Amino acid sequence: MGAYKQCTFILTLSLSVAVSGSVFDVATITEIEQLVTKALECRHVAGMTLSVFKGGDVWSRGFGSADISAGTPVDNSTLFNIGSVTKSFTMVLLGILLTEKKLDWTAKVMDILGPEYGFVDEYRTRESTLKDLLSHRTGLDSLGLGFLAGFSNVTREQLCKNMKFVPERMPFRDTFIYSNFMYMLLGHVAEKLGGDTWENLVTSRVLQPIGMTSSKLMLKPADAYQMKTARPYIYKDGMFQNGTKEIYDFHPMEPAGAILSNGVDMAKYIRFIINMGKTDKGEQLLDPELLKRSLFAVIPVDGEVNQNLKRPEFPVSDIDLGYGQGWIESVYRGYHLIRHSGGVFSYITDLWIFPEHNFGLFASTNGPALDSQFLAISATFDHVTDRLLGLEPWINTTTACTFPEPWRTANDSAIPPVENAAVLTNAKKYEGFYSSLILSGIRIELDGTSNTSLRFKMGKLGGILYSTLDKDRFLMEIRTPWEFYVSSMDKNNVTAKTNVTFIWDGDHVNTLQTHSPVPLNFTRRTHAGGEAANACDPRSHPGCISIVG
Ligand SMILES: *[C@@H]1O[C@H](CO)[C@@H](O)[C@H](O)[C@H]1NC(C)=O
Ligand SMILES: *[C@@H]1O[C@H](CO)[C@@H](O)[C@H](O)[C@H]1NC(C)=O
Ligand SMILES: *[C@@H]1O[C@H](CO)[C@@H](O)[C@H](O)[C@H]1NC(C)=O
Ligand SMILES: *[C@@H]1O[C@H](CO)[C@@H](O)[C@H](O)[C@H]1NC(C)=O
Ligand SMILES: *[C@@H]1O[C@H](CO)[C@@H](O)[C@H](O)[C@H]1NC(C)=O
Ligand SMILES: *[C@@H]1O[C@H](CO)[C@@H](O)[C@H](O)[C@H]1NC(C)=O
Ligand SMILES: *[C@@H]1O[C@H](CO)[C@@H](O)[C@H](O)[C@H]1NC(C)=O
Ligand SMILES: *[C@@H]1O[C@H](CO)[C@@H](O)[C@H](O)[C@H]1NC(C)=O
Ligand SMILES: *[C@@H]1O[C@H](CO)[C@@H](O)[C@H](O)[C@H]1NC(C)=O
Repeated sequence: MGAYKQCTFILTLSLSVAVSGSVFDVATITEIEQLVTKALECRHVAGMTLSVFKGGDVWSRGFGSADISAGTPVDNSTLFNIGSVTKSFTMVLLGILLTEKKLDWTAKVMDILGPEYGFVDEYRTRESTLKDLLSHRTGLDSLGLGFLAGFSNVTREQLCKNMKFVPERMPFRDTFIYSNFMYMLLGHVAEKLGGDTWENLVTSRVLQPIGMTSSKLMLKPADAYQMKTARPYIYKDGMFQNGTKEIYDFHPMEPAGAILSNGVDMAKYIRFIINMGKTDKGEQLLDPELLKRSLFAVIPVDGEVNQNLKRPEFPVSDIDLGYGQGWIESVYRGYHLIRHSGGVFSYITDLWIFPEHNFGLFASTNGPALDSQFLAISATFDHVTDRLLGLEPWINTTTACTFPEPWRTANDSAIPPVENAAVLTNAKKYEGFYSSLILSGIRIELDGTSNTSLRFKMGKLGGILYSTLDKDRFLMEIRTPWEFYVSSMDKNNVTAKTNVTFIWDGDHVNTLQTHSPVPLNFTRRTHAGGEAANACDPRSHPGCISIVG
């Protein structure tokens, strides 16, 4: 057995040495290097790892800087956080465990988790399958602010139990609503099936057997600052600056986006998917039927995930058919494409696989935490894919920098209406700490510099509540960290704001309600002086935990 394995290993190794370099000819490599270098420069992207798997060959290169102050370039072993590309690894892990338990994607989530878990209504609790959660079609709210604000001192088990408090936004199985929280829950399902933590299981049952031995998990902010890892950057005031360190802590949401990987390892993952769940060593790790079904579109994505290029506006078409299970099924220039992107603050990633054409691309970047970062990757992928398909590239070194121009103007976002502010005469009435069962609590403070606004802090988020002419209704604007502030800014430098409302009980405020867009109640725990009010007592309020951040 051991000897046989060694033989296969040597064979694979010598094969890849013999044909290495056959992915592209020298002229194409020069052209790609010029395009990527130009795109990084004009889009202010700090660094990129780019990897192409084709047939049995891999071409993997680094561009730009992994660590600007130390002068370390990106190479094909530099680790990047791959964000939501992690979701398909959670799918692969579940598939492996389902086969062991003689189950499939139609397994009911609560049959596996048990009676302490549930959803907001009895119907969803009874009927929700793994497939429903994997394809984001539960209709439950995405809790937009939750992932950004982060959590402290909440276990995955506890937060998963509290998923029963997530409100409905749309009917069950009606609409695609992308949810990081449901992937956390899926990670927990894997924990129940596999009898270990998601972290241990995804490492030992998925990464290691596929041979992704350099890949790791980002479990704390310091993991972005270890050796061989690209530092997260922002681009501000005309230069690269260090990103906000504290935001790289996803706990307990790791199954939705915590994998750190590099170009060489991700090429192995592309090969594993193209080989329908078989590893390099010939082991059928994942049932090919389960994998195949996870690639098919289950529900239309409604333009929420990416902006489709559609003819006649653009010279080519790139249409999403829908979300599968950890993947989006698309058609690029008529070719069947399976893909997923990832974005955690400064790290933007994309993965494209053309299963019928036996090739795939992976890229990840480490800043500037602006929209332009994704444009640099998409220009690269469009160009490189066209070369691999033998088509004339429609993106060149000029349009890699101007896209979406000359086809569409870049500043077409609508300007939100401006609302008048009212002078707050009873600002102190709103002060205090408001907690939720599913998100970090919100602290409301007076704004010393203005009599028309309040300040808020919610976990890692901070910002301003602007008063409106409606009593008790405010517009919430995230100001810190900068990564979140700029991402909610449109091309006209206007930031997106959301409504929050305070609700009174007699002569005191007892509830803060956010609208994201579903109303979500945060219950007041302390008054201005800090004394506890309405304390969260698990005996009188089952499932009650204080999520403070
Ligand atoms: C990774 O980079 C090294 C150094 O640039 C190069 O020699 C090697 O061929 C690359 N590996 C692949 C698979 O492209
Ligand atoms: C989190 O838990 C630790 C240890 O139990 C405690 O010291 C710390 O104060 C807690 N932090 C918060 C924000 O509650
Ligand atoms: C940015 O982080 C690096 C460590 O990666 C450090 O050496 C440098 O001083 C930091 N720069 C600033 C401006 O804080
Ligand atoms: C790049 O593409 C654009 C749009 O198709 C075209 O107008 C331009 O001439 C091309 N530039 C080069 C240098 O090929
Ligand atoms: C786009 O920007 C230009 C120049 O700043 C401006 O004249 C034009 O009105 C903007 N278009 C839209 C749709 O905002
Ligand atoms: C509110 O603040 C503005 C600007 O600082 C000031 O001009 C105004 O007099 C204040 N209004 C009240 C009612 O305090
Ligand atoms: C928007 O703000 C950014 C950063 O503050 C600045 O670089 C840019 O020039 C501004 N754009 C406009 C159109 O005002
Ligand atoms: C906030 O609520 C008001 C009143 O219901 C509504 O007119 C406005 O469009 C809302 N604003 C946002 C940003 O949702
Ligand atoms: C939120 O609080 C308001 C006021 O107390 C209450 O009317 C409403 O039913 C609550 N909503 C939920 C979903 O608990």
